[in-house]
Amino acid sequence: MKINVPATSANLGAGFDSIGIAVNLYLTVEVLEESNDWKIDHDLGNNIPTDEKNLLLTTLSAVLKAKNSSLSAKYHLKMTSEVPLARGLGSSSSVIIAGIELANQLAKLNLTTEEKLELACEIEGHPDNVAPALLGNLVIASTVADKTNYVSSDFPSCKLLAFVPDYELKTVESRKVLPKELAYKEAVAASSIANVLTASLLTKNLKVAGQMIESDRFHENYRASLVPELKILREIGHEFGAYGTYLSGAGPTVMLLLPLLLYTSPNPRDLGESSIASSPYRKKKSHDTLKVKIISVTYR
Ligand code: HSE
Repeated sequence: MKINVPATSANLGAGFDSIGIAVNLYLTVEVLEESNDWKIDHDLGNNIPTDEKNLLLTTLSAVLKAKNSSLSAKYHLKMTSEVPLARGLGSSSSVIIAGIELANQLAKLNLTTEEKLELACEIEGHPDNVAPALLGNLVIASTVADKTNYVSSDFPSCKLLAFVPDYELKTVESRKVLPKELAYKEAVAASSIANVLTASLLTKNLKVAGQMIESDRFHENYRASLVPELKILREIGHEFGAYGTYLSGAGPTVMLLLPLLLYTSPNPRDLGESSIASSPYRKKKSHDTLKVKIISVTYR
């Protein structure tokens, strides 16, 4: 058995904790053979457990418990991931979705998509990464009082460039800088921006979507000092004709949405990277110190 789950890019600025897209970097979990103990082979570093403490298996246990089920066997697993860890590309969410699917398959739970999403939101807390990791494409979701509602749709055609800094930022750290409360007037303004963002994404109006993405009032301003690359890359985006630039998830990855027309090469990855690298990115001295890996991704 092999389970593939995509990475995700959440928030899209004003869609904080609610909007996300799946992108084409994958986590793969393979079930090898039965074993005396759970064992996970991976090359994700010494900090990631290879036993039952791994998020994959804590998720599996939580699902079995929630569904009053159990397994008579343990397994040797192999986990490989193209999703950079703690970079705002949904690495944990991809593991959670894989854990739910693993429990579903091994214990023959026949979970519906809605049940899987409900379990994922319970474990993760918010739907913006887990929902697109499960459903693919663009998902706009709301989890309030344990109830999740969502709409999924095709993402408008564009080019996505992920700028992945060479440091980790854990979501829990990135949430510490957020305010505990928003004033009523501010909350109404922030939510009206999110409403227009949603409408523009669903009507494939990326020009307006980009403006709304960059008008976020829920989180990016508070996080700016944690990810100085955002301001610089947004400036570059403006010079380069990007629709919009946002902090992917809790950061530190910064995502640029660019018009497809800027790219005509049959290999968009090469062209995207070299175009950015040879354009305004190079011209500004202050940008020379940016240490980012540029990954060309597509929504899926
Ligand atoms: N929306 C979350 C945050 C990240 O920005 O903190 C992923 O769920």
